[in-house]
Amino acid sequence: MLFSVIAAVQKRVGPDAKPLPGRALRDVFAPRYVGTAVDATALDREPGYREVLAQQFSAVTPENAMKWAVVEPSRGKRDWSGADALVTFAARHDQRVRGHTLVWYAQNPSWVESLPADELRDALREHIRLTVDRFRGRIRDWDVVNEAISDDGGMRRWFMLDKLGAGYIADAFNWARDADPDARLWINEIGAESIGPKSDKLYDVVKRLVADGVPVGGVGFQTHTNLDGIPPSFAENLRRFAALGVKVAITELDVALPEPFTAADEDRQAQIYEQAGKVCREQPACVGVTVWGFTDRHSWIPANQPGNGDATLLDGDLNPKPAFTAFQRGLRG
Ligand code: XIL
Repeated sequence: MLFSVIAAVQKRVGPDAKPLPGRALRDVFAPRYVGTAVDATALDREPGYREVLAQQFSAVTPENAMKWAVVEPSRGKRDWSGADALVTFAARHDQRVRGHTLVWYAQNPSWVESLPADELRDALREHIRLTVDRFRGRIRDWDVVNEAISDDGGMRRWFMLDKLGAGYIADAFNWARDADPDARLWINEIGAESIGPKSDKLYDVVKRLVADGVPVGGVGFQTHTNLDGIPPSFAENLRRFAALGVKVAITELDVALPEPFTAADEDRQAQIYEQAGKVCREQPACVGVTVWGFTDRHSWIPANQPGNGDATLLDGDLNPKPAFTAFQRGLRG
């Protein structure tokens, strides 16, 4: 009894939601969507986080809750708790869900990495089938293949490529389509915003998939950036992908600042958020923009890029930073 009282008290943590200026992001960019990555623990525990999430965003992406290492940590033992909680929340708040991600070199369970080729192929097919099928009709967009290209413009070398060859990409798309013929299926890439070796390779891969009748419906540009900003060729790059007949989207936008940051850094960050919104708005094939977290309280940057932080729209207390109104402006035009 005492324990459940303590647990209930402990569950209400985090800052309160504050009133945010202007119209909600989700209204500003409608009918296109504005999404965010969602931290499963914050969703579970923080009422202020949930309030801002529901009010501002029309799409959600699980930051980690659908990754293979999370949904099947040991073989055949599946845990959908985080994924289910997010999909339920999204339905309640009229949000679309971007499923993320079925095939990626990182965050795989260790039992998968050691499988011989034939078993690996079967396990991947089963993972895709069960995951997509579980949310059929509730997830409209799936990041099927994530970060498959290397920075120098080749295929990324990892155990899936080594064991199955480059055909794992087409197989993954076909298996996902079989599990939900109505979902739009995405290839998602990091650091491919500018025209250059990496995006050229991505372009060739997508062009080939489309020509082969593989059901790739969209190309996601993560757009993890910093004070270097949005590359000048991003708009032109989006245009050439759109000309292949696929949709495009900004899928993981954030703008990391070096710590300690200055007011000038925050103003520059605001401009970069504005530009990102504008690039999507001006490209008709761009279906939406997703930020990779909306509060500095929950951002992957400090842990993953030591010495950097403050990458999101709201500070750790859910107060708006200059980036918030600038992003609104970029989306609205
Ligand atoms: C990141 C999460 O934000 C972190 O919490 C986790 O520790 C590592 O993965 N590209 C992607 C995302 O496609 O899935 C990654 O998310 C960030 C880079």
